[in-house]
Amino acid sequence: MVATSSGRSNETFLSDYALSEQVPATLGDALDQTYSALQKAEVFFGHGSDSAWDEAVFLLLSAVGQPLDSGDEVLALSVAGDSWEKVLGWLHARIILRRPLPYLTGQAWFAGMEFKCDERALVPRSPIAEVIRNGYAPWWTGDGPKSLLDLCCGGGCIGIAAAAYQEDLQVVIADIDTDALSLARENIGIHELTGRVTAVQSDLMDELAGQRFDIILTNPPYVDAADLASMPAEFQAEPPQGLGSGEDGLDMARRILREAGEHLTKRGLLFLEVGNSWEALDAELSGLSLTWIEFSEGGHGVLLVRAEELPEIVQALAR
Ligand SMILES: C[S@@+](CC[C@H](N)C(=O)[O-])C[C@H]1O[C@@H](n2cnc3c(N)ncnc32)[C@H](O)[C@@H]1O
Repeated sequence: MVATSSGRSNETFLSDYALSEQVPATLGDALDQTYSALQKAEVFFGHGSDSAWDEAVFLLLSAVGQPLDSGDEVLALSVAGDSWEKVLGWLHARIILRRPLPYLTGQAWFAGMEFKCDERALVPRSPIAEVIRNGYAPWWTGDGPKSLLDLCCGGGCIGIAAAAYQEDLQVVIADIDTDALSLARENIGIHELTGRVTAVQSDLMDELAGQRFDIILTNPPYVDAADLASMPAEFQAEPPQGLGSGEDGLDMARRILREAGEHLTKRGLLFLEVGNSWEALDAELSGLSLTWIEFSEGGHGVLLVRAEELPEIVQALAR
């Protein structure tokens, strides 16, 4: 039986979403039911998949232990009773409790790599993955960078991916939250990068005095108060300190811009993600020539700042 904590009975949940308690004959039948239930529930997609179909496929293949790149041949397979029980449990958590799917499966993907994912940190989804894949080009030229800081690292996906993509890169990842850091350390171990990726608990760069980096990648909290108040329920499952950042979403970004000059090498680069708050930052820094990165794989709101540009940006910050 599906565990319920919503006060609604299991039978009501199953009938509301046309799910059978009886195990479907094939994976294809199970997929039809899963897809219809997710469509009907109008859950929000934004944590790794962008449609009810993609999410139904991920959920089902994860629950039955088939590879996520399986082809149609698996649709004829039979479904074990305990696998269907798992599917119903995950659907209940997804539909009634609105938990994002990666928190149920325990896996997320970033820059083509698999990461352990749970409620200790945000679900990875930063467009900075594309910057890493491109080796920081066209802004970084010549030999690869030697050192990189992933500031506000959450579960560590950005810094770990950067290290995995460049084998001579030394990486520091930092976050204020000990829970997020414990997940990040597990991910460092899973990717066998303990020799090159160091996790540090720090309020922004407070614990990194004297350290300079060729590249700083940061996806800090940047959601403004209005967006925060209207976010779909799925976001409430994520750690709140990972999302909000003051009235206009820029409290953390301003601090980072003020402090980054002390931590970049002479030709260092800061990649600062501010998402939808980019318009507010762009307006605040109007008059300066800013580089907002254009992504080919989707995403927006990442500012590229060269070390030499920081002084005039800091001067232009309103507060
Ligand atoms: C938007 S999440 C990004 C997580 C991860 N980088 C990613 O892309 O999935 C922001 C992270 O910033 C951390 N954070 C919030 N305030 C911070 C601070 N003052 N210093 C360092 N980290 C902070 C949160 O704990 C959270 O893990």
